[in-house]
Amino acid sequence: MKAEFKAIMPVLVAVALLLVLSCSHGFALKSHLFRRRVPAPSGVMINYKTYYIDQKIDHFGFLENGTFKQRYLVADLHWQTDGGPILFYTGNEGDITWFCNNTGFMWDVAEELGAMLVFAEHRYYGESMPFGAESYSDAKHLNYLSSEQALADFAVLIKYLKASWTGCQSSAVVAVGGSYGGMLAAWFRMKYPHVVAGALAASAPIWQFPDMVPCGVFYKIVSDDFAKSGVNCHANIRRSWKAIDKASSTDEGLLWLSREFSLCAPLKKGDGLKSWLQETWVNLAMVDYPYEANFLQPLPAWPIKVVCEHLRFSPEVPEQELLQGIAQAAKVYYNYTGDATCLNISQSATGNLGMMGWFYQACTEMVMPMCSDGVQDMFEPQKWDFQAFSDECYAMFGVRPRPDWAEVVYGGKDITSHSNIIFSNGGLDPWSGGGVTQNLSDSLVAVWIPDGAHHLDLRNNNEYDPSSVLAARRQEVALIKQWVKQWAVHTHG
Ligand SMILES: *[C@@H]1O[C@H](CO)[C@@H](O)[C@H](O)[C@H]1NC(C)=O
Ligand SMILES: *[C@@H]1O[C@H](CO)[C@@H](O)[C@H](O)[C@H]1NC(C)=O
Ligand SMILES: *[C@@H]1O[C@H](CO)[C@@H](O)[C@H](O)[C@H]1NC(C)=O
Ligand SMILES: *[C@@H]1O[C@H](CO)[C@@H](O)[C@H](O)[C@H]1NC(C)=O
Ligand SMILES: *[C@@H]1O[C@H](CO)[C@@H](O)[C@H](O)[C@H]1NC(C)=O
Repeated sequence: MKAEFKAIMPVLVAVALLLVLSCSHGFALKSHLFRRRVPAPSGVMINYKTYYIDQKIDHFGFLENGTFKQRYLVADLHWQTDGGPILFYTGNEGDITWFCNNTGFMWDVAEELGAMLVFAEHRYYGESMPFGAESYSDAKHLNYLSSEQALADFAVLIKYLKASWTGCQSSAVVAVGGSYGGMLAAWFRMKYPHVVAGALAASAPIWQFPDMVPCGVFYKIVSDDFAKSGVNCHANIRRSWKAIDKASSTDEGLLWLSREFSLCAPLKKGDGLKSWLQETWVNLAMVDYPYEANFLQPLPAWPIKVVCEHLRFSPEVPEQELLQGIAQAAKVYYNYTGDATCLNISQSATGNLGMMGWFYQACTEMVMPMCSDGVQDMFEPQKWDFQAFSDECYAMFGVRPRPDWAEVVYGGKDITSHSNIIFSNGGLDPWSGGGVTQNLSDSLVAVWIPDGAHHLDLRNNNEYDPSSVLAARRQEVALIKQWVKQWAVHTHG
């Protein structure tokens, strides 16, 4: 009985999270940071060795003296053993092999830079569990899941590599990361400038914290993507929310909706059809890539354009017709292959990898306010309600978030004393709203990719890449070379 209960627990918790998702923007958005399931690069051979290093569970206190095994991957095929640089991926919220397989940029440039590639797993994700299967059991065990501990793991790992791998004592290390991993890369350079020569922080929303950017910016960018991608597209989505409410108000309407959307289970009052759709539109904005790609669900090139093909009608059409269009549009996301037998609105569009961990992080340090107004964006108005968010966190984990901490520890908008960081952002990516998109100094450089979605620059080269991302990658490689040169001067006198 007991073992069975244990096995079921994670499922119950995951379901509870999804219920929370449907009533709060606050929560709904946290999970988007790690929605980056993309196809393994074709062409480039992904070939790495897996290693483990013993890390202290707590780098910052002395009472908890246990250790755990942190996983890291190394690829040294192109490494110039006499001091070639190390490109160090600062792992984010998920299995590191998955980030490794999906950061084609590093594989594409390894030869040109003569670089060793290292991918370090973030504690509490993948195999790097501080307390094994107990790591997520309660707040006490989760207590060591923080960005500060993760950065310290990275620094310890690099010190160890330099001491134990022949030839890399004087190698320049350049941090690379995307999304939350990009935030970590930037913060790694800020906090450990003696360890890393510079950082490429791709699609890193380091300013998506309280009082740094307007809370509505994320949803506005999502909406702009739809507005740009087809006639009447975002207007029809905006109109659909009330139409769904109306249809959901009768049993007959619920049945009709279930049929039109080909739902696996008949829709009941209070089911989260609207929040599921909202999540779908947001995901599409993040992966609006110029070529066919596999983001959990396989998608066509420029998927939002394809979605908008189903929403071109004038905003005066009857609501039934409007909702039929919405159903067809949703099926672009869920049934591009034609293999879906039904759509399941209790299934997150992105899978669960790392979800619990990220929720915990959002409930402690990573407080990212989100709101919508239905005017600047195509969503239903929803205010950012910190108290409600905090209460949900308390109910779920027994901890409350500290909204100011990210600013206190990482400097917020006041970061000009730092150096050698590239902040790259895509104009289609909703996370660019919380990113650094203006040059802050000669060496805090913003790279803007107007037709890029979420860290397109970190994906591997593709024949359909827009010229803006090719230029961005060239600029990034040029800056990395410059940092490596600087590092050599600085370490060899
Ligand atoms: C770790 O802590 C335990 C319990 O407090 C103690 O018995 C043990 O000696 C400590 N080990 C080390 C290496 O300090
Ligand atoms: C990454 O690629 C390796 C080698 O091709 C494979 O064994 C591994 O399963 C992949 N990881 C993920 C999460 O896709
Ligand atoms: C998915 O597409 C296929 C092929 O067009 C179709 O036969 C099937 O009914 C679709 N599934 C759903 C759930 O709409
Ligand atoms: C829908 O997804 C949920 C959550 O993953 C799962 O428990 C349920 O069995 C699925 N329903 C159907 C009909 O596939
Ligand atoms: C930032 O400066 C670089 C030159 O270092 C320039 O190429 C780039 O266009 C600038 N970025 C922005 C967003 O102004």
